Amino acid sequence: MLAFIWAEDRNHLIGTDDHLPWHLPDDLHYFKKITEGHTILMGRWTWDSLPTKPLPNRTSIVLTHRPITTPGVTTLGDVAAVQAYIQDHAAETIFI
Ligand SMILES: NC(=O)c1ccc[n+]([C@@H]2O[C@H](COP(=O)([O-])OP(=O)(O)OC[C@H]3O[C@@H](n4cnc5c(N)ncnc54)[C@H](OP(=O)(O)O)[C@@H]3O)[C@@H](O)[C@H]2O)c1
Repeated sequence: MLAFIWAEDRNHLIGTDDHLPWHLPDDLHYFKKITEGHTILMGRWTWDSLPTKPLPNRTSIVLTHRPITTPGVTTLGDVAAVQAYIQDHAAETIFI
């Protein structure tokens, strides 16, 4: 199952450059609580911005044209690979 989770401000801003435009510990705790035990699919910029890689207690998948060698992460090279992953893991909750 695909699921979507994001935070936005009143103007629908979700990011500035390659970072979240805010630091809200309660929001980070909420994100952790909702996503723990599931899979997170993110772009490479979002991956690069994570303080801890991979995210603990979650399966990390990164969409990128470049392989990432960090242990514990799966990389997918294009949208077709994402679609194939979703089809092959139908029982997983995959958060975008
Ligand atoms: N507010 C929120 O809830 C929230 C959540 C997540 C992210 N954000 C913010 O959003 C901003 C960045 O997010 P973003 O979504 O624009 O960038 P992103 O998806 O994290 O990263 C972009 C990178 O993803 C890879 N990519 C994207 N489409 C691809 C495709 N079709 N095939 C292969 N690789 C692809 C490319 O990596 P390569 O260059 O390595 O090929 C591209 O440079 C940041 O500021 C981040 O902090 C906010």
